[in-house]
Amino acid sequence: SGEALVPEAAWWRTERRQQLLALGAQATPRYVYHLPTVRHQARELKTLAAVDRLHYAVKANTHPDILRALAEEGFGFECVSPGELKAVMAAVPESAPLLFTPNFAPREDYAWALNTRATVSLDSLYPMAHWGELFRGREIVLRIDLGRGLGHHEKVRTGGSGSKFGLPVESIDAFLKLADAHGVIVRGLHAHLGSGILDEAHWGEVYSQLASLAERIGSVAFIDIGGGLGVPSHPGEARLDIAALDRVLREVKAAYPHYKLWMEPGRYLVADAGVLLARVTQQKGKGALRYLGIDTGMNSLIRPALYEAWHEIVNLTRLDEPVTGLFQIVGPICESGDVLGTDRRLPEPQEGDVMLIAQAGAYGKVMSSEYNMRDAAEEIIID
Ligand code: LLP
Repeated sequence: SGEALVPEAAWWRTERRQQLLALGAQATPRYVYHLPTVRHQARELKTLAAVDRLHYAVKANTHPDILRALAEEGFGFECVSPGELKAVMAAVPESAPLLFTPNFAPREDYAWALNTRATVSLDSLYPMAHWGELFRGREIVLRIDLGRGLGHHEKVRTGGSGSKFGLPVESIDAFLKLADAHGVIVRGLHAHLGSGILDEAHWGEVYSQLASLAERIGSVAFIDIGGGLGVPSHPGEARLDIAALDRVLREVKAAYPHYKLWMEPGRYLVADAGVLLARVTQQKGKGALRYLGIDTGMNSLIRPALYEAWHEIVNLTRLDEPVTGLFQIVGPICESGDVLGTDRRLPEPQEGDVMLIAQAGAYGKVMSSEYNMRDAAEEIIID
């Protein structure tokens, strides 16, 4: 894999630190997104010569400025709901390709999406068996369950019999029979096994498995190998090596040159571009532990509570001061799970200090809630 993560080089540590301190002093909680980082990540993925089309998985972050920046970089957009499709259509030019890949969606969602310019994906026999007329004469994408899942946590693995996603391989023939009866053409094959994957070989395996299935279907023109490109979250984890990923993909492409290759990354584009700013509220010593309270918690960022995800947390006000203790970073929400970070080594904090929770650009704001009727974090773009 590629070079190790160098947290010292993060944009929020260096040139934007004073600006972030000022933003945090004005009001918190605030999500701040750094557009140059989004563009940087986008341009890195555009070096994947094997990939013919990149769709941004909008679910990771739906901020309109981010959607626009990625449209400018030539990305299409993968959407999972009419709401996401509408947000994208309102923000980006009409020329941007759209992909609609819902799961267990109601009939009306498909009916609505079929009247947009989006390419629609199905991952179950049910819509074809019960709503076949809706799809008559259409070209669709079929999402396959390759029988296994992968990812940073059990809850983000989207393959295998324990997951609700995808058509099992053994049902493909039944699907094709139904499709044929309604004049529906399977133009694309799709798989997405999970999120937060740091092994380049994974996408090559998915690609060759889908390509060999495509060979027996006949009508397939493109293969979508999903997203799931991880970013290191623990210091010391290695970054994905994009050049190595390209080599893996080019090898498969050499064997199946007749299919266009699509990918749909979310996290990779936006995770490192976003931080959550909060301010210190109170401290409490309890037994051996020191709790450090900040003015937002699982209501703004649920990933630690839901996946035990690790986000780097720093005291931005005292970034250069020596570490004095070990802290449990907690929010104001009435749940014991409202912990943003455990056992963090930090300088001596004071009420009002601006704390920064890193790598919050993906699946942060979009998964936030109004729990306890706490104010929602605002979103600020810096460019
Ligand atoms: N394509 C499909 C069909 C997906 O379901 C997803 C994510 C993606 C692409 C983009 O995956 P990414 O490149 O962002 O890993 N909330 C979790 C992640 C859930 C991802 C759901 N699907 C988290 O915060 O880690």
